[in-house]
Amino acid sequence: MTNKLSVLLIVICLPFIIQCKESPSGLSDKKEDAGQEVDVFEQNKLLGRGINLGNALEAPNEGDWGIILQEEYFDIIRDAGFSSVRIPIRWSAHTTVDSPFTISTKFFERIDWAVDQSLNAGLAVVINIHHFEEIFSDPYANKKKFLEIWRQIADRYKSYSSNLFFEVLNEPHDQLNEIIWNEFLAEAMDIIRTSNPNRTAIIGTANWGGVSALNQLVLPENENNIIVTIHYYEPFHFTHQGAEWSEGSSDWLGTQWTGTVSEERAIKDHFDNVKAWADSRNVPIYMGEFGAYYKADMDSRERWTAFTARQAEMRNFSWAYWEFCSGFGAFNKDKNEWHRQLLRALLPND
Ligand code: BGC
Repeated sequence: MTNKLSVLLIVICLPFIIQCKESPSGLSDKKEDAGQEVDVFEQNKLLGRGINLGNALEAPNEGDWGIILQEEYFDIIRDAGFSSVRIPIRWSAHTTVDSPFTISTKFFERIDWAVDQSLNAGLAVVINIHHFEEIFSDPYANKKKFLEIWRQIADRYKSYSSNLFFEVLNEPHDQLNEIIWNEFLAEAMDIIRTSNPNRTAIIGTANWGGVSALNQLVLPENENNIIVTIHYYEPFHFTHQGAEWSEGSSDWLGTQWTGTVSEERAIKDHFDNVKAWADSRNVPIYMGEFGAYYKADMDSRERWTAFTARQAEMRNFSWAYWEFCSGFGAFNKDKNEWHRQLLRALLPND
């Protein structure tokens, strides 16, 4: 993940639109169990095997990166056998400019729709704050906005079921370093807990959400309802080959992942470290992003994805593949079908 320090985010995406259908709900009604205490390890099982609805609501405006969420996506995902979705959201682009940073009603209604679609399809759903770029370059100038955004989100969804999860911030990095992140995180959790005492929260690490910053993460005090998330894109030169936003990545084109002993060992070692860290703190782990870009060869992508997912599962990490139907996509939006190899890597018939 350290390579992500060199990442410059730009846009990639292809347009896409498909049709939709209704489906029965496998989860309890969204308002039914609000407020009940939960077992966080059971909550992590609800996340299970998931997928990110990426490049839609975390674009500056939905559609800017080619993806507009469609009603049928939720059923397509559930019918394939996934149990959860993670929805990245760029709230910071949809508030008033000044305090109290009121989130636009229209945007909130769009998120309500996405959350309701997920729950109605029987999928657990993670919402986060994603691409709040300003806070990474100037954390203190944006702290109030960050906390006010959480106050509003937490209040709006406080009566939703425990199948809705809050993830505090995607991939803190740059000036929002490990020390400042621990401070902001604790304050955001205080705000979330005021209105959502029993909501499962998901927190990640500084330094781009990678494994390397786990040891610096200070878990908020008096908490037993937190899942820790890691993002996993190693080896970075394989997963991000040709990625337009990763400097130098055209030089990595052609990198394969064949599953040699040392390639497998590297992943196992990373995950063993994560597992040891988590066990010693009695917290579950959610691998909220992992994936390989479409410019890698499909056989390598299948091998890496299957190996990474199974290694996570062996250690009881839940996971969400990055992502549904864009540059890393497991679903081919043009043909309206799953990439067979990626789907079988993610959800083997076991
Ligand atoms: C970013 C995406 C990026 C992905 C892989 C995500 O956290 O939000 O923009 O494509 O990581 O680099």
